[in-house]
Amino acid sequence: MSTDLSPQFQHCDDLIERAVNDRARGLEGSEILRIAGEVAAMRRRGVALADFTFGDFAPRCFSIPTALRDRLKAVLDEGRTNYPPAVGISELREAILTCYSRDLGLDYPEGSVQIGSGARPQIFAAFATIVAPGDIVVYPVPNWNNQYYAYLNRARAVAVPTRPENGFLPTAEELAPHLKVARLFCLCSPSNPTGTVFGREQLTAICEAVVDENRRRRAVGDRPLMVLYDQVYWQLVFAGSEHLTPVGLVPEMARYTLFVDAISKGWAATGLRVGWGVFPPWIRERTKPLIGHMGAWAPRPAQHATASLLLDQDAIRDFVVPFRTTVAERLRRIRNAFLDMKAEGLPVDSLKSQGTIYLTVRFDILGRKLPDGRTVTTDEDIRRLLLEDAAVAFLPFTAFGLPHDTGWARLSVGAIDDDEIDRALERIRTVLGRLD
Ligand SMILES: Cc1ncc(COP(=O)(O)O)c(C=O)c1O
Repeated sequence: MSTDLSPQFQHCDDLIERAVNDRARGLEGSEILRIAGEVAAMRRRGVALADFTFGDFAPRCFSIPTALRDRLKAVLDEGRTNYPPAVGISELREAILTCYSRDLGLDYPEGSVQIGSGARPQIFAAFATIVAPGDIVVYPVPNWNNQYYAYLNRARAVAVPTRPENGFLPTAEELAPHLKVARLFCLCSPSNPTGTVFGREQLTAICEAVVDENRRRRAVGDRPLMVLYDQVYWQLVFAGSEHLTPVGLVPEMARYTLFVDAISKGWAATGLRVGWGVFPPWIRERTKPLIGHMGAWAPRPAQHATASLLLDQDAIRDFVVPFRTTVAERLRRIRNAFLDMKAEGLPVDSLKSQGTIYLTVRFDILGRKLPDGRTVTTDEDIRRLLLEDAAVAFLPFTAFGLPHDTGWARLSVGAIDDDEIDRALERIRTVLGRLD
């Protein structure tokens, strides 16, 4: 016989309420996941809609590489299911060094790599290792989730607004006012949510400013300015664009750069939970016990399978080339439809996607009147309008830390069926055409 415990949880009195500390109380859940969860619940209730919200891959649309799946099964069959080492298995750490040397031209020494369960623990570990309470952490907006990591580590978060003409990525001039006071710059390219990549001059200028600033700090005995460089989408950079890294452009940046990476996006393998940080070795020494105490290891079989894949250039080519082409083609098709709408005089704008699974679109309808007389005043109004009247779900940039409403939004193509796309675009066209 078991004891029914539900009466214990029927109400949370003052005493129990205070079990939760202020930090946990103040931590907000991800706005991205909140909206995506709401849309998923609608779909489960049978509401038919085109879901452009998820920054994930529906396995029915994009599955993991066959080589990865086969190796994973084989390692499981071999029974290799015990704890991996806290920094990750040596085969995977070495494969990552080989891959960075071969594909990114970066020769990192042994002792630079830390494996974890996806990119997130690396981001958390980087913040927790570099940032002291009250330190200033600077990130561009829109951005992916740095505000939450800053909050968790009691940093002073400074969000730097960016401009569409720069692909919503920051410039050295925009970061300059924070150069002397910041402890950490958080950069991401290819960027979530914008689907854009840093240009060579843009990133070089930032790196040179960081190196100069650190020369100044060394002279006055200050702590350095570090750069978190999130490149989880680098396998998904499209033809005509290039993936650049701070260290590739300015080698001295190796001392100040913390790379965050994973198989999650580039290999459509978000659920396998393999990610890594490539850090200066003296920083990796400090993140190692942190990841160890969190137990945020990647499962051993997934680590072995990833190691094999990263060394198998034929398997990589067989997977990545068609995968990237399909994603790029979907994004191009959607952008062309928005360009046509714009040419017809409809109030939309968009940026060319250079990588990732995202397209940046502006529904330029703030202040416009709906057929029922209401006025569109917020990004949330726009989101609701297109959800309810066009059965199309997406994420406004306000979910990515933008503090005011602009109409800019992210459309993701990772979890939508190909034949849904054109119908969804047609419905958007109809709704926009009805506005005053
Ligand atoms: C830019 C960026 N970094 C990191 C992550 C997290 O990756 P993972 O699922 O490997 O933890 C995401 C997930 O959406 C992302 O978009």
